[in-house]
This record gives sequence, C-alpha cells and structure tokens, in this order.
Amino acid sequence: MGGGKTQRRPPRAGRVVVGDLARPRKRILATMPRDDRDAIAMLERSHRKLERRLADLAGAARALADGTATRVELFVAREVRDYLQRSAVRHVDDEEQSIFPRLAGEPRASALIAQLQAEHREHDALHAELAELLGRIERPRCPPALAAALVDVADRLRAAYDAHIAREDSELLPALAGWLDPGELETVHAEMRARRPGGEGRDRRRGGGGGGGKKRPR
Ligand SMILES: [Fe+2]
Ligand SMILES: [Fe+2]
Repeated sequence: MGGGKTQRRPPRAGRVVVGDLARPRKRILATMPRDDRDAIAMLERSHRKLERRLADLAGAARALADGTATRVELFVAREVRDYLQRSAVRHVDDEEQSIFPRLAGEPRASALIAQLQAEHREHDALHAELAELLGRIERPRCPPALAAALVDVADRLRAAYDAHIAREDSELLPALAGWLDPGELETVHAEMRARRPGGEGRDRRRGGGGGGGKKRPR
C-alpha cells in the first residue's frame, strides 16, 4: 500500500479523466454515479456531504438549545456523530493511506500534507468531544448547559472542517490532478472503492458513502 513513484510528472492544467483509461472497468464504472467515477470526484463528493451533515448537526444543536427540538433533531445529531465516526474516518483513510504517501516524494506537497494530517487529529478530538457530549443527552429537552455545549462543539466542528475542506479543494485536489499520473490515480480510486461497503462499488441500500443506515423517527 502506499507505493509512491519517484518519477513525477510536471504540474499540468485540467482534470485527469481516469475512467477513460480504465477500459477493463468500463462496465463497473457505467453503473456508478457520475460523481464517483474517479478519485477526485469521490473526494469532492465526500467534502460536500461532510458540509451538509455538519450543517444538519448545527441545526439540530440549535433546536435543542432553543427548546424546539423533537426526537428527530436528537436522532439527527446522533446520526451525524455516527457518520463522522464511520464515513469521515474512512475519508481520512483515503487521504492518509492512499493519497499522502503518493505525494510524499513531491517536496511542494510536504508542508500541505503535514498541515492536513495535524488537522485530521484535531477533527478526531472534536469527534470524541461530540460523542462524549451526546452520550450525556438522553432526550430532546436536555439541560441548557448541555445543549449550549452541543452548539459550541457543532460550530467548532463546522469551522474546522470548512477551513480544512477549503484547503483540500484548492490545494490537495489540484496537486493530485497535476502530480499523479493516470495509473496512480486509478489505483487510488480502486483503493477508495475497496474501503466502501460492497468493495469495488458502493452499497446503495446502505446510503452509499456510509452516511445512512438508520431510519429516522417519525
Ligand atoms: Fe482531510
Ligand atoms: Fe478531505
């Protein structure tokens, strides 16, 4: 795993369309959502989903704090906690196990990788803080201090991920497109798909990227 190449191509403009270079996988790719058809598209899709889920958490936390929450909002908060512990961790594995090692030979990427890894550890601490807090909230009408703490951690999570995702979208993804050759990008894509339920593809019944799986209370 990891196997970066020492020879790097010079940066080039534009996106590498990996699917065009992967003819043996053509039928598998044809069944996949268009936004999952290459590694960069999968990363972007995960970033957008993270943003949506953290907005959901912030909204649920505020409903708990202002006393309007029902068990739906508490369910959503717990669902986002589970999503962060499952799918966001898998997304970090994509970056730390499949991508960063392949950029490690590129001196221009070293500072960026170090910063992103440090931010991943900060996210882990925030995930743990959220889980600990939600473990103490048993019903929507919870003590005001707990609801206020939930709003606070939800806001800090959102701010941390917003900055991190902005950095990855503007620096990491262009680096991937510019510095990895098409074969390396295809290997990254295969490793990312292998981490998802169903291996090569995604298990749509379980919410694709792993963000679903539970029924919302009515
Ligand atoms: Fe990241
Ligand atoms: Fe990311």
